[in-house]
Formats: sequence, structure tokens, C-alpha cells
Amino acid sequence: MDDIKDIVKELEDLAKDKVIMIVDDDHLFLDIIDEILSRFFKEVICFESPLDALESYHQRKNLGIEISLVISDLTMPVVCGLEFANRIFEIEEKQPFMIVSAHDDSSNLIEAIDVGIDSFLIKPISFEKLTKKICDILKKSKEKKERALLERVLAQQSKMASMGEMISAIAHQWRQPISNLSSILMHIENAYKLKTLNPELMEKNIKDANELLEYMSETIDDFRTFFKPQKRKDIFFIKDTIKKCISISKNTLDLSSLNIVVDIDDKLEVVGFKNELVQVFINLVSNSLYATKERGLKTETLYIREKTSDELVIIEFADTCGGIKKEIVDRIFEPYFTTHRATGTGIGLYMSKIIIENLMFGEIYAKNNDIGGVTLSIKLPRS
Ligand SMILES: Nc1ncnc2c1ncn2[C@@H]1O[C@H](COP(=O)(O)OP(=O)(O)OP(=O)(O)O)[C@@H](O)[C@H]1O
Ligand SMILES: [Mg+2]
Repeated sequence: MDDIKDIVKELEDLAKDKVIMIVDDDHLFLDIIDEILSRFFKEVICFESPLDALESYHQRKNLGIEISLVISDLTMPVVCGLEFANRIFEIEEKQPFMIVSAHDDSSNLIEAIDVGIDSFLIKPISFEKLTKKICDILKKSKEKKERALLERVLAQQSKMASMGEMISAIAHQWRQPISNLSSILMHIENAYKLKTLNPELMEKNIKDANELLEYMSETIDDFRTFFKPQKRKDIFFIKDTIKKCISISKNTLDLSSLNIVVDIDDKLEVVGFKNELVQVFINLVSNSLYATKERGLKTETLYIREKTSDELVIIEFADTCGGIKKEIVDRIFEPYFTTHRATGTGIGLYMSKIIIENLMFGEIYAKNNDIGGVTLSIKLPRS
């Protein structure tokens, strides 16, 4: 057993800035407890009547004064200890509460547990028993408070982290349309200077630019809902998502030496999140584009094709752009892994994996192929 001196010292420390409430119809008992506890607590408030105690509890609560512990007798006239505890818990669910009883009647104690009281003391009460019990309760509630604070901080941190991820995801997916918008503007400027800017050309460029802007604005919504799930799944044609992806990358593709060959059945359908799948496809196309650029002037090809069975839809993105070194092929889905030090962030494939696995319940993997490049395969359940 702890040395009583240690307990006294600990209680002095824990209780010096706290308020305690004692309710007992036995005023002699109240006087003794008041005298003992006043030595430790900042304030000891004593009541013979539970109704007066309730009123005072209310008032203090409204003033924002916390009562660290309520100690109440079990058998009292008018309102019994359990009823009193119930009314206190209605005001403050987490109020530390201790029942003091003259007899250890187990049915009463079981009822007290049901009400939510987790501390009892059976009379006669010794100084040692009382201080130790109070010390334990104050320690426990201090720990609980610290834990709750830590949980709040952690929740806040994880909220910040996912907000950061969301912002990087949006920034990542905006790079392509931003560079496309800039080439559209360049187009218009050139045509203007060369005096070849006619209404049709202007209209076409504006239409293309608006499509990109619309996609950028959709991207914000997509990622906002992605990080705040509960969205509805859709059934859609894979071919449409590929068309959308190519149309968003169109201007960059026009300026590059990457040919895209699509061999996908017009009627091939999947269930899931259409816009998010477009984001994945854009990442894969942009990776092949980058690899093409790195290869110099040679024209490369990206084949987008399907391999499906009754239960699965497999979409393959197979390029001829040089492949991935064996040593790093296992790392390309890691967040921030990139070999494009100057321009890459390394979140394209990481984000794609999260979308495919967590949102669409599928799989995505990469392998070097036998046509001189990489094949990224996406396996999706049919429904
Ligand atoms: N088609 C590909 N051909 C060759 N290497 C590839 C291909 N796709 C991915 N990689 C490799 O995988 C790495 C990770 O790709 P990921 O898309 O995650 O990031 P990144 O393209 O480098 O940067 P970011 O997408 O953020 O701009 C790339 O740096 C590259 O080394
Ligand atoms: Mg990438």
C-alpha cells in the first residue's frame, strides 16, 4: 500500500485548485469531511439537502465553474443518492461522482453502477481510505482529460494531413490543364500576330479552354468529395472516361510524339466513380508522355486496351517508352517517389492507387512489357 504521506502529498498537489461538493443529511459527518478536505481543496461546498446541492451545481455550471468531484450519501430523505446522481448526470454526463453508504448492500451498489457511478466508499470512513479514494478519482479524471486533449490534437492533425493531401492532389491534377490552357493562349496569340485569327479558330479555342476550366472546377469537387466519402457510385462506359482523359490531355498530346491507340469496346461498363477514374487515366497518360519526352525525338505508342472476364474488367495502359528500371519498379506507387527530380512530385501513381484500391475496390500494378515499355494494369470488379 502507498505510504499515507505520499498520498497526502499527491492529493495536495492534485486538489489545490479544485472544487469538491459533499452532500449528506448527517451534518456531523459533513462537518468532519469538510474539515478534512478543506486542507486539500480550493473550495469544499457542503449540503445537507440534495435539492440545494442541485441548484448550486446548476449555478456553478452556468458560471463555468467545474466541480471536480461530487460525494453523496446514498440514503437521504426526499431525493436519494442515486436519484441525485441521475439528475447531476443529466447536467454533466461525465461528472466524477462517489457514493458514500452506511451499508454495503449489494443491490444498491449494483443500481449505482447502472446509473454510471464508479466509486463507492462504505462507512465508517477512515482518513486514509478517503484520501486514497479521492486521490485515485482525481488522477483518473486528469488522465481522461489529457487523453481527450491528445485525441483532439491527433484528430486535428489528421484533418490537416488529409487537407494537405487533398490540396496536393488538386494541384497535381491541375498541372496538365494549366499547361494546356497556356498552349491555347499561345495559339491565339500566334494566330493574332499572323493575322490568321478568324471567328472559327477563336470559337474553337474558347470551347477548348472552357472545357479545361470546367474540368479544373470538377477536380476541386471530386477531391473534396473523395476526402469526405459517402458519394454515390455510378455505372458508366469505360470508353467515355478514356475519351475525356484524352481530350483533357489533347493539347499536350498534339505537341508530343506519343500516339495513343485505344482498343476498348464502346459498351464496356463498370460501376464506380467516373471522374476519379478519369484522374487515374490522366496520371497514366501523363507518365507515358513524360517518358516519351525523356526518350528524345522517337515516336512512341501507348496502347489502351481491355482484357475482361465475367467478374473482372482489366484495363491495360501499355507503352513503348523505355520501361522502368528493375530496382525501382516496386517503389513507384510510394508517395513522393519520383525519378523526375525537377518537375515530378511523385504523387501521381500513389493517388491513382488510393483511388483504385480504396474507392473502386480494384487493383493496380505495373510491369515492364515486351514492347519496350511499361504496362500499367487496372483490375476492377464488374459490379
Ligand atoms: N510509363 C512510365 N514509363 C517509365 N517510368 C514510369 C512510367 N510511369 C511511372 N514511371 C516511374 O514511376 C515514377 C512515379 O510515378 P508518379 O506518377 O507517381 O510520379 P511522377 O510522375 O514522377 O511525378 P508526378 O506524377 O507527381 O508529377 C516516375 O517518376 C517514373 O520513374
Ligand atoms: Mg506522374
